[in-house]
Amino acid sequence: PLVSMKEMLETANKNRYAVGQFNLNNLEYVQAILQAAEEEKSPVILGVSEGAGKYMGGFNVVVAMVKATMEAQGTTVPVAIHLDHGSSFESCAKAIHAGFTSVMIDASHDPFEENIAVTSKVVELAHFHGVSVEAELGTVGGNEDGVQGGIMYADTNECKELVERTGVDCLAPALGSVHGPYQGEPNLGFKEMEEINTVAGVPLVLHGGTGIPVADIQKAISYGTSKINVNTENQIQQTKVVREVLEANPEMIDPRKYLGPSRDAIKDTVIGKMREFGSSGKA
Ligand code: G3H
Ligand code: ZN
Repeated sequence: PLVSMKEMLETANKNRYAVGQFNLNNLEYVQAILQAAEEEKSPVILGVSEGAGKYMGGFNVVVAMVKATMEAQGTTVPVAIHLDHGSSFESCAKAIHAGFTSVMIDASHDPFEENIAVTSKVVELAHFHGVSVEAELGTVGGNEDGVQGGIMYADTNECKELVERTGVDCLAPALGSVHGPYQGEPNLGFKEMEEINTVAGVPLVLHGGTGIPVADIQKAISYGTSKINVNTENQIQQTKVVREVLEANPEMIDPRKYLGPSRDAIKDTVIGKMREFGSSGKA
């Protein structure tokens, strides 16, 4: 069924595993990720950035596509459709009214008080509709859907205050993670993560899940991380297969012949992450 992230993440937090957020780019992603979740008996979060939503024809199209695919595939595991890095109240409202079951309001680039103000407004609307909310503090490195950011750590006291004053369901404190591939090994602020986990009182979210070693994933989960976002890894594996197939068959023109095998690559990648995150068998 389609559900919000609230219960999913609270259960994960209690039982020390993380639910993966896998970002959608087109229909093949919906099919592959839902198949992976069903086979693994894992809860799953489908992430939709504003850019990807636009590419797929708008939030209504995304929701219709997800619902129809769940029905066609006979999905039984809990699924959330989540707006990733929502940039404004209006964008979150649009997603909520289109039928998203969860939204992220990312006002991490705004001054603290403005972040609180817009996040509170989103929480009020979202909770009225039974929709869960994720907020962010600090700056994730790399590219945030067009916004290029340097790394800035979230402040522990601000995390505590933001959760208390807004009532968000989960929090993404940026602690050295990066969107896209890491230059060398990631260097995550586990000391800060532990502190924030102690004071925040909600499940934590880790952005930039591509390229984080398993040992770090496990450490993050032990410090209260209950949601891990992955996008780039699926894109890398998908595109690798498309390239291989087209290079081996230069006259191939049927998209089903190269998108089909690349869809399997997405599914295999998602299954691998679900096992790493410990969410397999939890639905
Ligand atoms: O919000 C999306 C994620 O943080 C994706 O990060 O592309 O590095 O896997 P990634
Ligand atoms: Zn992110």
